[in-house]
Amino acid sequence: MQFPAVLEKISDLKKTQIDYLLNLSKKFKYGDIPLGREQIGHGEFPIIATSFLENSTRTKHSFAIAIQKLGGVYLDFNADTSSLKKGETLEETLLTLSYQGVELCIIRTSVSGELGQFKADPPLKIINGGDGVHQHPTQALLDLFTMMELGHGPAGKTIAIVGDCIHSRVGHSLIELLPQYGAKIILCGPKEFLPPASEVAGLELSHSLDETIEKSDLLYLLRIQKERHNNANFSNDNHYHLSFGVDLDRLERLGKKIPLYHPGPANIGVEISHQAIKSPLYFGHEQVKNSIFMRMAIIKAMLSS
Ligand code: NCD
Repeated sequence: MQFPAVLEKISDLKKTQIDYLLNLSKKFKYGDIPLGREQIGHGEFPIIATSFLENSTRTKHSFAIAIQKLGGVYLDFNADTSSLKKGETLEETLLTLSYQGVELCIIRTSVSGELGQFKADPPLKIINGGDGVHQHPTQALLDLFTMMELGHGPAGKTIAIVGDCIHSRVGHSLIELLPQYGAKIILCGPKEFLPPASEVAGLELSHSLDETIEKSDLLYLLRIQKERHNNANFSNDNHYHLSFGVDLDRLERLGKKIPLYHPGPANIGVEISHQAIKSPLYFGHEQVKNSIFMRMAIIKAMLSS
């Protein structure tokens, strides 16, 4: 199946391509296809780079592990010590990597939409590893894979995305992806964290966490993206936790034992309590485990195309 050379956002993929990725992730997870270079190796040594211009623990390492499980040569391109710091453009940097034989680069940038410019004439294949407040497509895809694997599949379900929805690239990708698989979405958070209703037609907006929990089958919690706030126009952590933090007492009071998802990093005591993150309702670690298989699938699909 053909895949785009640049995966910038969820809408770059058709539903048939997403289905293919879900199926391939499953095959990698259950060992139905062998690991190693035959999966991606049309060249002698497929070289795949990550270039993370913003901090990362999960995404970068999960790509690094996926690349190595596929038998790729992994290049950890360090932007801080590269010529990007000497004023070279991202395009020239990517061209240089491609002349050195790099076939695919996973890029994280703080500039929203920065990767769209490469779609017309890509210097090499590109996966968006998170761009500013815009999109983080591979996170949303691995979340969908995890939901389906664990029996939390979105068909006919109400999924609430709780927290800093306007500044979350993960949230933006999820709201494009989950409705395609039959989910109804509620965005829940304080007024300053929710988009205007006109921008998210078809999604429900709520400022009440209790009401949201009552209607929901799954809660997807988001961190407050303080680094992306131009002003400190939001409540302090304790105040936020009282109104929008998920804890076991709240869930018990509402009689709802529903799965809690989080892309990480979680701020314990803010959007989720210590007891909640340590409870059997929390599936963040399953998202991390499944991330490897979905990223292997995406790399294979893009390199084989
Ligand atoms: C997210 C990100 O970087 O967008 N983390 C991740 O990739 N797992 C979420 C966040 O930073 O809050």
